[in-house]
Amino acid sequence: MAEEKGEKAKEEKEEKEEKKDKKKKEEKEYTLSDLPGIGPSSIAKLEAAGIYDLMGVAVMTPAGLAETAGLGEAGARKAIQAARKMMNLDFQTGTDYAKKREEICVITTGSKNLDNLLGGKGVETKSMTEAFGAYGSGKSQLGFALAVNVQLPVNMGGANGKAVFIDCEGTFRPERIRQIAEAIGANPEKILKNIFVARALNSDHQILLLDRVAEMIKEGEPIKLIIIDSLTAHFRSEFTGRGQLADRQQKLNRYLHSLIRISEQYNLAVYVTNQVMANPAIMFGDPTTAVGGHIVAHSSTYRLYLRRGKKDSRVAKMIDSPNLPENETIFFLTAAGLRDSA
Ligand SMILES: Nc1ncnc2c1ncn2[C@@H]1O[C@H](COP(=O)(O)OP(=O)(O)O)[C@@H](O)[C@H]1O
Ligand SMILES: [Mg+2]
Repeated sequence: MAEEKGEKAKEEKEEKEEKKDKKKKEEKEYTLSDLPGIGPSSIAKLEAAGIYDLMGVAVMTPAGLAETAGLGEAGARKAIQAARKMMNLDFQTGTDYAKKREEICVITTGSKNLDNLLGGKGVETKSMTEAFGAYGSGKSQLGFALAVNVQLPVNMGGANGKAVFIDCEGTFRPERIRQIAEAIGANPEKILKNIFVARALNSDHQILLLDRVAEMIKEGEPIKLIIIDSLTAHFRSEFTGRGQLADRQQKLNRYLHSLIRISEQYNLAVYVTNQVMANPAIMFGDPTTAVGGHIVAHSSTYRLYLRRGKKDSRVAKMIDSPNLPENETIFFLTAAGLRDSA
């Protein structure tokens, strides 16, 4: 009898270990350099072609990879097979898929209207939300509100986590955070303490700070939101010549890839703001275009276009989301944060 019990405990223990192992395997983050036969020179060639991660390789043909990375076709085939294996590019059951979706947290913006526009509850983890619009349209204010609200418990519209604010324009205002926190009855100093702020001095620094965020998460910080205000300012000012446009887009593309990977890997929300610039080519309608163009557009899961509306309101429009209709709503910027009425 006792023996049987011992056997059972042992089995349970083994099962637990197995699960742990499986989890570890799933969490391991592979990069291009983990692929057989792919060295630094191949990586450089792949990156120059816009391929930064295993997914990019996994979907290639052997001939395509051979040409892009300067490999023999047999070597290319091996690398592709390895990438597919590492990525677990297999079917999963609907149940597993649903479970993964269940992990997603949603952070309220403070405005019901805007939450509804975003699909019901606000900004989602495992995805990137971009707000673009003119100066004063409310992009930074939305960032402040999210930095506070992410700290709320899940049943109150938060993700029970901390925020990172990568400040590229010197817009972070602690007093504003305090004000928004007080309005929801939270302890302002506690809220401020759970926001990690860094001023990004240039685009390289901005990129470096993201690596630091990943480290902090591994060290145990429960970061559930990364805000980048603004995503494109440094890129825009550093790459000014016409000939530099391709370089700029490549660097930006790579950065966006890392952002998305981090958001999925650590189940956190990414919120970025994007300036608009005058586009003289558009004669009618709103003559503004988001900086970074289609690269940013294609990376964002949710894109909000913000502008001033009547009577001090703000108008938010959802632009080409994969699962939401193109829609518009209004909200107000108040002392308490974003609200449906002034
Ligand atoms: N304490 C506050 N109370 C009410 N409205 C505020 C407060 N602080 C800022 N705002 C509003 O936010 C606007 C600035 O929005 P902001 O998010 O900084 O714009 P941007 O899109 O340039 O980032 C101001 O014009 C004002 O209408
Ligand atoms: Mg701003």
